[in-house]
Amino acid sequence: MNKQQPIVIGHRGAAGEAPENTLASFALAFEQGAEGIELDVQLTKDGEIVVCHDLTVDRTTDGSGLIGDKSWEELKSLDAGFWFLEAFTGERIPHLRQVFELVPRGHFINVEVKHAYEGRMEKSLLAFLDEMDRWADIVISSFDHKLIHRIKLAQPKAKVGLLYAANLIDHAAYAKQLGVDVFSLHPYHHCIDMEDVLGAQAAGMAVYPYTANDVADYKRLIAAGVTGIITDYPGRLRNFLD
Ligand code: G3P
Ligand code: MG
Repeated sequence: MNKQQPIVIGHRGAAGEAPENTLASFALAFEQGAEGIELDVQLTKDGEIVVCHDLTVDRTTDGSGLIGDKSWEELKSLDAGFWFLEAFTGERIPHLRQVFELVPRGHFINVEVKHAYEGRMEKSLLAFLDEMDRWADIVISSFDHKLIHRIKLAQPKAKVGLLYAANLIDHAAYAKQLGVDVFSLHPYHHCIDMEDVLGAQAAGMAVYPYTANDVADYKRLIAAGVTGIITDYPGRLRNFLD
């Protein structure tokens, strides 16, 4: 059967080759032919949305401490590139607004919400996305499915996705029992098989497994017919597809 090619989604940008979740990483992903990017968001003390995987800045910057305890002013001067490679010195933790300024309208951005911040994150994020008015470009995903449920109820225009690493019996049925329109499933790629993927897609959902980096995994996921693949090496996946 002739399957449609999956789209290439750069994980934290092109995290295999640039410091994750930085503007350099996002730019590289698109340069390498990605159709979209995935990024992680956290909330500062003063309610700003910043792009960082961890709750703290310890692993990916020259600073330390919880993002939720810091203001945007404090965060924006930290170096987020040197830890990865000296050549990236000067990269910063981006504000989500800076990513939206970098990525042209019409490009797919998967915003992964890492933490609810007692409900403050969804409020800030939905207000920000409303202001941006790029609903068609954005998929909001999270491992916190209650948060996803609240987001969809609060803003029906939001496209929402479920992240999970469980080997579910019926992926589509799980999504449907949330009672809101789930746009996409984001399963850990070792946990899916072809029937599950096809079942979810037949039910109208996109399937974006994460995070596949090896050619053997690319082959398996392409054969399964997934909608997109989240990868740390968007260039490698693009070359493989082409
Ligand atoms: O969104 C896919 C993937 O990023 C989820 O896991 O830990 O890499 O954010 P993590
Ligand atoms: Mg992520």
